[in-house]
Amino acid sequence: MEKNIIDIIKKAKELSLNLKQEINHIKDLKEIDLIKIKYTGKKGLVTLLMKSLAELNNDDRAKAGRAINIIKRDIEKMIISHKSLIENKILNESLEKEKIDITLPGRPTLRGGIHPISKTMDEIISILSLLGFNVEEGPHIEDEYFNFTALNIPEDHPARQEHDTFYMQGSNKKKLLRTHTSPIQIRVMKEKKPPIKIIAPGNTYRCDDDATHSPMFHQIEGLVVDKNISMAHLKWTIKELLASFFNVKDLVMRFRPSYFPFTEPSAEVDIGCEVEDGKLVLGKGKKWLEVLGCGMVNPKVFNNCEIDTNIYSGFAFGLGVERFAMLKYGITDLRMFYENDHRWLKHYSFRPTGFPNTLKGS
Ligand code: DAH
Repeated sequence: MEKNIIDIIKKAKELSLNLKQEINHIKDLKEIDLIKIKYTGKKGLVTLLMKSLAELNNDDRAKAGRAINIIKRDIEKMIISHKSLIENKILNESLEKEKIDITLPGRPTLRGGIHPISKTMDEIISILSLLGFNVEEGPHIEDEYFNFTALNIPEDHPARQEHDTFYMQGSNKKKLLRTHTSPIQIRVMKEKKPPIKIIAPGNTYRCDDDATHSPMFHQIEGLVVDKNISMAHLKWTIKELLASFFNVKDLVMRFRPSYFPFTEPSAEVDIGCEVEDGKLVLGKGKKWLEVLGCGMVNPKVFNNCEIDTNIYSGFAFGLGVERFAMLKYGITDLRMFYENDHRWLKHYSFRPTGFPNTLKGS
């Protein structure tokens, strides 16, 4: 080998050794960029060495080129790995410095507020939790079977049409956005053995949009299954819930016979109301306001879930969260819940630091 080529390879090795020493002293990203330019930049040491290959004959140029390329890659690797070392160190230092104590309470000066729907949900959940109900959830995209069939709403049943369902494209009407929270009853009964005492809050969807309907709204479902459950248990539970939620001691309410395919008998519950000095007062008076639907679980539904009707009985109820929120907080237009009008939100939202009172629900 000619002296020239040996010299060039030697120089390349020296460059790599020099860099190894130099780089250990580097502590910030600016310096690492400078080092990168010094070695591998357009006029960098490695680049210049590469250019000097032009002086060699063809054979030697190829050999030396290969050797230098390997060294060049080593040099580039060294720079990259040192750079990421520095970046990690900087990140760790800033994480250490900017540690947030998530256990600290929120500051009351914060601008955000709790939406009245969330607040109402929290209130109802906390009242019913105190009565021993556990919270369950289910999928928003439901099977037609859980949403309708198992709830005793067969395909040709008029109730199916009334639900204005959003079906998933291409599913042949088998998959849909749940039209109510009742399918969660089925899911729970198929999964768990009685005694069952659950509530299922969540979003529900129907293809409907006007001043009193929104395509997305919220419901809370309730279900109790045990031995000897009667209408009296249902009435007591509903009265406790309504009296607590509306904060009225001797709440006036009535059970009006109604029809739901999944309960038998079924009822709609009204609470008394009256207008006093131009203000709507709830829980007393001679007028009636419908608040929820309920009933004793239909034996056909129990059969679908393989629950023995000789041993068990149960009750269920379903309520609209928007309606509860509108009544309690005097909100008149349903659509305002979803407009995100800043002035409206400021007026109707709740302080994030206020917790729902489990006894009064507010
Ligand atoms: N799922 C009914 C609806 O969306 C509400 C309902 C009524 C639920 C009666 C129940 C019930 O569990 O017993 O209109």
